[in-house]
Amino acid sequence: MFDAELENIDILSEAPATEPERQYYFIAKAKKLITEKEKELGRSLTFCVNTFGCQMNARDSEKLVGILNQIGYHEVETEEADFVLYNTCTVRENANQRVYGRLGFLNNLKRKNSNMLIGLCGCMMQEPKVIEKLKKSYRFVDLIFGTHNIYKFAELIVTRLESNRMVLDIWEDTDKIVEDLPSQRKYSFKSGVNIMFGCNNFCSYCIVPYVRGRERSRSPKDIIAEIKKLVADGVIEVMLLGQNVNSYGKNLENPISFAGLLEQIENIDGLERIRFMTSHPKDLSDELIDVMGKSQKICAHLHLPLQSGSTNILKKMNRKYTKEQYLVLVDKIRKAVPNIALTTDIIVGFPGETEEDFEETLDVVRRVKYDSAFTFIYSKRTGTPAAVMEEQVSPEIIKERFDRLLKEIQDYAGKKAMELEGTVQEVLVEELDQQKEHWISGRLSNNSVVHLEGDASMLGKIIKVELSECKGFYYIGKKIDKAI
Ligand code: SAH
Ligand code: SF4
Ligand code: F3S
Repeated sequence: MFDAELENIDILSEAPATEPERQYYFIAKAKKLITEKEKELGRSLTFCVNTFGCQMNARDSEKLVGILNQIGYHEVETEEADFVLYNTCTVRENANQRVYGRLGFLNNLKRKNSNMLIGLCGCMMQEPKVIEKLKKSYRFVDLIFGTHNIYKFAELIVTRLESNRMVLDIWEDTDKIVEDLPSQRKYSFKSGVNIMFGCNNFCSYCIVPYVRGRERSRSPKDIIAEIKKLVADGVIEVMLLGQNVNSYGKNLENPISFAGLLEQIENIDGLERIRFMTSHPKDLSDELIDVMGKSQKICAHLHLPLQSGSTNILKKMNRKYTKEQYLVLVDKIRKAVPNIALTTDIIVGFPGETEEDFEETLDVVRRVKYDSAFTFIYSKRTGTPAAVMEEQVSPEIIKERFDRLLKEIQDYAGKKAMELEGTVQEVLVEELDQQKEHWISGRLSNNSVVHLEGDASMLGKIIKVELSECKGFYYIGKKIDKAI
């Protein structure tokens, strides 16, 4: 929405009951309050959003930033700002500790700036014990909300500005999806697109279903409309987001499969690259593999979380596939898309994991030869079934297994990366190189990073690059001018 349209909203009348109109009313109202404050202080007001966790949170933050921009706050890199918002993650315990650690620092900043507001949102806020702790020991926090009501951000800011008291609004779950709110993309040429929210899988170690609620798919119509709008605005790559994109659309009034959705997205003119995250192996269909094989736009990369290679542990994890089924899937995918890069997530030290179980994980790693993998030490999440399982593995054993696993993964990843050395690949230029002037970096279809000489005019373009040298996990490349 444009500023002029915001000015036409009558903020003296009552707030509309329907969304998103209601939120535009509060955006207009907050804008007036912020403008008044800026006049009073004789300077502009600034904000900083700090995002923890996964791509889902990153996308949520773009929406929060979009709202803050429309209200009239100006974005800055530093937390010495007038509004600091932490969008939190709680998937592992250390994510929580980092937030508590930083809150003390924010309180010090607030003592120096009486206008400063501190906001907390995201997955951690959906945990009752976190809220208790914040209410008791962190009274200086101004605004707390959860994952289900981020669309109400402007309304909550107005409540805070008008009341001068801590505002707390947490919903247990929701079946609502509010469309058409502002959002500010981090990159002009690529964007995350939520296709579904929540998770119904209840893997026994995982807190996400408790903090993100039940699975809800957006309608294909809304998704396609959003992508078309993004493309008209310069986007050439989308990342479709969901905790388990392979179960997309099952609960819609007119059910549609994820593969069906991909086919519709493929037809959008001007869109060049399609990525998606995350694929649960239990729901990865032959139809999807087929669509990936035929597609011109779906990138040659599949993130397929393994978690463990032991069928016994997978059962305890409630993952609903066996080691053998996983390996069959990998074979099928490689047959359909021979150059595909496979990446994964693995948890080490799930309760009851024996040396034999761990060897099974290593066996899968050796057979699949992943292009890269995220490895996590099992973290006990209160409220999940695994937290009360007996035989928690000792930290020493976990550490030893973790190191062995990492070494194995790095060996294969390095070898895999070498295979592309000397070839010419299409690269989407994404950033100016942070380390080196007149250098840029970009990504191959398979998600690997390449650094090459170049300038800002190349940002957001797909160019042909010769991968001159493989540096282990990334490449040094050279732009090829003539067509290949
Ligand atoms: N929906 C995605 C994953 C979301 S969480 C999926 O199903 O793959 C991202 C990763 O964090 C998971 O794949 C898992 O490997 C890891 N993870 C989740 N809970 C964890 C825990 N309690 N301890 C350690 N790692 C965990
Ligand atoms: Fe967590 Fe499993 Fe859902 Fe992924 S699929 S978010 S690991 S419960
Ligand atoms: Fe973390 Fe929430 Fe994502 S717990 S991993 S930010 S869904």
